[in-house]
Amino acid sequence: MRRAVLRPYEAEEAVHYATDAVAEHLAAYEADGHLVGVATVFAEEHPETGEPGWRLRGMGVAADARGTGCGGWLLTAVVDHVARSGGHLLWCNARVSALGFYQRYGFTVESDVFFVVGGGEHRRMRRVV
Ligand SMILES: CC(C)(COP(=O)(O)OP(=O)(O)OC[C@H]1O[C@@H](n2cnc3c(N)ncnc32)[C@H](O)[C@@H]1OP(=O)(O)O)[C@@H](O)C(=O)NCCC(=O)NCCS
Repeated sequence: MRRAVLRPYEAEEAVHYATDAVAEHLAAYEADGHLVGVATVFAEEHPETGEPGWRLRGMGVAADARGTGCGGWLLTAVVDHVARSGGHLLWCNARVSALGFYQRYGFTVESDVFFVVGGGEHRRMRRVV
């Protein structure tokens, strides 16, 4: 799902995330067991300030399930996980096309646009948990 939604033209390895931290992988399923959305979160300090934090990666919802609340449900579950783990900062490199989604859930933009190979234009975002 992560590859299909985010990196359809790249190799499987492009969506394998290297981290020594324990990662929480969340998934959303329809009642019939069909997978429709994913998100991953793990502890990773902020890349510029060095603050202890949690990084959101691989947030994606299948095209035919978007606009139904699935992404919001997953993102809320990510925030809940960070809160339960005692975290206070959640950050991500957000696709420019998804900035409004993250803003809707309390994230603010904190960087200029930068380009990620295979992923297009991004901006770093953060929210307090
Ligand atoms: C971005 C994405 C995860 C949103 O998931 P979704 O299931 O469509 O979102 P929801 O239906 O839960 O929407 C929740 C709220 O966010 C808003 N929203 C969703 N996508 C948005 C966007 N791209 N821009 C602005 N607002 C958006 C919705 O309008 C909704 O607002 P409301 O509650 O006030 O009505 C999904 O569109 C997606 O997977 N896109 C392609 C991959 C991608 O860009 N992933 C993010 C990588 S950083």
